[in-house]
Amino acid sequence: MSYGLNIRERVDLKDLNTMAIAVNAQQFVDIENADQLVEALDLAADRQLETLVLGGGSNLVFAGDFEGLVLHMALRGRRWEQVEGETAVLALAAGENWHDAVLYAARSGYRGIENLALIPGTAGAAPVQNIGAYGVELCDTLVSVTALDCDSRKTVTLTAEDCQFAYRDSFFKRNPGRYIILEIRLRLSRSTSLKLGYRDLQDYLSDVDTAKLSPLEVAEAVMAVRRRKLPDPDTLPNTGSFFKNPVIDQARFEQLQKRFPDVVHYPLTDGVKLAAAWLIDQAGWKGYRNARVGIHNRQALVLINHSQGTGEDVLTLAEDVRRSVREKFGVELEVEPGIIGTR
Ligand code: EPU
Repeated sequence: MSYGLNIRERVDLKDLNTMAIAVNAQQFVDIENADQLVEALDLAADRQLETLVLGGGSNLVFAGDFEGLVLHMALRGRRWEQVEGETAVLALAAGENWHDAVLYAARSGYRGIENLALIPGTAGAAPVQNIGAYGVELCDTLVSVTALDCDSRKTVTLTAEDCQFAYRDSFFKRNPGRYIILEIRLRLSRSTSLKLGYRDLQDYLSDVDTAKLSPLEVAEAVMAVRRRKLPDPDTLPNTGSFFKNPVIDQARFEQLQKRFPDVVHYPLTDGVKLAAAWLIDQAGWKGYRNARVGIHNRQALVLINHSQGTGEDVLTLAEDVRRSVREKFGVELEVEPGIIGTR
């Protein structure tokens, strides 16, 4: 079998992961369409190579070199479908930059994803962790996903229900290697109400007549709010929130609240969600740094690679943070980005 793919050997991935960890991929290929993806998977199977699907590299930490074939998702294209009255479906190829797509939709007057402005990464990665910010999650607008079924090598359409979305979670995250996302479809609307209730956003817009806001203006407000707290990966390499906000049951929460009356929390129908940033901050980590890695000084949930930190440095710091939160509060933090390779 001959493969018409441009496979490169020993490719440096430092600029392809937002934590800027300097590791190599044994082999690397840009994927521009579904046929190339099938070919690459066949090649990997023939050569018994492990594969890694790489989008914007904004939600993973490389523990070491990747001894396999990196499939860099470079599929491009966006189009409007089912434009009917106030609503339309925006189809985005997996390799489209997410933030550019948000601005494109907002400039076109469509609402639904403006609160997700400035989230790094690609459209194809967005469903994997069901990206969310400022009171909105991807699953609020996603209608379907086109994906390659890696078992049958056939292209399939998955509904939002098939994706089994939950907080920072999906079928794709729980079953890595089963599907590779090729395209996503979002139902947007010109008239749905804007979601301005998240506290930071509400404070930022307190002097504004929100009835007159356009989705682009909301996206711009979200960008300003994010920039105040969240570091730009181009200047301070990071992967956004490093831990999920943990959920504990009501009885444990009440015990915790007796000891820590100020504990920041959000009641759910089943249990209570805690602000991991608050727990880490209270454990004294905010602004901590060693020679290579640290914790952001404005958002304690974000780990930073200050200077040539390795995956080992990042994961050791994450372990130290988890241990101290466990010791102080008895709460387990779950790492949010994927860890690639072994330490
Ligand atoms: N807080 C602290 N110390 C800090 C930072 C925050 O005590 O250093 C407290 C704040 O006072 C606030 C609470 O913690 O009461 C929550 O903070 P924030 O509103 O900044 O939100 P978060 O829960 O820390 C989540 C998402 C972010 C998303 C923001 C805004 C997760 C794991 N993180 O952060 O998502 O941008 O809400 O919606 O759910 C990401 O996933 O990468 C990400 C950045």
